[in-house]
Amino acid sequence: MSSTKRLFIETVGCQMNVLDSELVVAALRRQGWGMTATMADADAIFFNTCSVRQHAEDKIYSALGRVRKQKKKNPELIVGVLGCMAQKDQEMIRARAPWVDLVVGPGQLHRVPSLVDLIQAGSGPQLEVSLDRKSGSRLEVVDSFESYDPDRDATMRPTPFQAFVRTQTGCDKFCAFCVVPRVRGPEQARPPHAIIAEAEKLVGEGCREITLIGQTVNSYRWSDGGKTFRLSDLLVGLDAIDGLDRIKFVTSYPRDMTTDLIEAVRDLPHVSHYIHVPAQHGSDAVLKRMKRGYTIGQYMEMLGRLREAIPHVAVSSDFIVGFCGETDAEFALSLELTKTVKFKNSFIFKYSPRPGTKAFDRQADDVPESVKKERNRLLQEAQAVASLEGNQRFVGSRQQVLVEGLSTRDERHAVDPGPDGLAQLTGRTMCDRIVVFDAPLRLIGRMVDVDIISAGAWSLAGDVADDLANAVPLDHLEQSGPAVHQIRVPAQSPPQIAQRS
Ligand code: SAH
Ligand code: F3S
Repeated sequence: MSSTKRLFIETVGCQMNVLDSELVVAALRRQGWGMTATMADADAIFFNTCSVRQHAEDKIYSALGRVRKQKKKNPELIVGVLGCMAQKDQEMIRARAPWVDLVVGPGQLHRVPSLVDLIQAGSGPQLEVSLDRKSGSRLEVVDSFESYDPDRDATMRPTPFQAFVRTQTGCDKFCAFCVVPRVRGPEQARPPHAIIAEAEKLVGEGCREITLIGQTVNSYRWSDGGKTFRLSDLLVGLDAIDGLDRIKFVTSYPRDMTTDLIEAVRDLPHVSHYIHVPAQHGSDAVLKRMKRGYTIGQYMEMLGRLREAIPHVAVSSDFIVGFCGETDAEFALSLELTKTVKFKNSFIFKYSPRPGTKAFDRQADDVPESVKKERNRLLQEAQAVASLEGNQRFVGSRQQVLVEGLSTRDERHAVDPGPDGLAQLTGRTMCDRIVVFDAPLRLIGRMVDVDIISAGAWSLAGDVADDLANAVPLDHLEQSGPAVHQIRVPAQSPPQIAQRS
């Protein structure tokens, strides 16, 4: 066999995409592929794409433009577009960038290895996408979106001790602005035993934190022999896994925040007291135009139940500013909601009309870009005040932190203090607050107590309270070798994600 072929993969968008990339890489590795962190020496360049906003697509098309030269010099190079943009644009991708060899939607990713083989064997460009939602019966469409959760590749994860596990694919809510139900297809739950078994395997490999992911993760339902399994049942199953320290789940849908789930979060010791439950807007009229299916009164009622059961629960949200017809008075209600609820953080997006959505077809994108920008700034500002206030309550407390790695400051400067030297590390509290502190690298992957000494809007800072001398190095970290970091993880840290669009 010829020398190992190298893959470069760039991932944009949500946690689903991060997980999908991990799975694609694992499958290609089994086929003998290696990874490279530099595009220039790659034999295949894949983009795992996002369609939620126009901006994300524009960036991929310009990246494809830059790859063109490399493809000209090396016609053997395989250029691939995977994920949501592949499903949405299909043939149009090759019409705009004929040098693309591979276009694969999120429901067909299991086909990537065989399609790569076909391309290498000279069969020409390959396109594999799922059915459009209106082009077949529900069953036919469901069948064309295959869940893809085979064995995984730890080196592709954000860290070796944190992993995403999918509970369901697709979405059936059809919010007026959102392209996800179209590109990721109908909602399909994975069987509970498959989810638990995957988690057990990950924990066996050294994983300490698992984040369950689904577009509306709390809508999870699986019926089997008269019994219905809900997200709360999954949490009970996961909580019992020996060695699993933390369990999170994203994204929750406000209307499906049921009492059993709230009680599970309250009572299960390993479930993080953190709920990402996007409000999207503060005005009932806008929520109605968005077809979100709840009013602010209902959202506040849900929040009341949550906070009554778990007084210190951290709640975060997504907001869209500049949605069709949004008036100053309506926008003011989003500001007001931000100030009253005091979300831990919010991901704020300027509305981007998406072909194939109800809003695109029926409502005019009539808020000027300059107004969207200004409202975005104002809401960011209000959120920063709320985040700072929320974080300040932690000063003087001791928090248990899962140490994730070097802080962005030290990562940027490629700090290498050796295994015992101090570096600035970062981790998260049980309620998902970011903490930075100086500590030896060997603490990465461990749970440590940190005394919080100061707070900013986006993070806390503190001192490690543990007896560092007793810190045990993590075996699996030492064995796993250098992680390949070409995946751009959509870090949940507010300063980056707040500007996602
Ligand atoms: N339930 C999903 C939501 C996917 S989209 C999840 O797992 O997060 C993520 C966020 O992007 C949405 O909550 C919404 O705030 C924002 N968004 C979706 N469509 C958008 C659009 N057309 N323009 C701007 N923001 C959008
Ligand atoms: Fe999108 Fe609404 Fe589903 S935001 S992912 S259609 S819940």
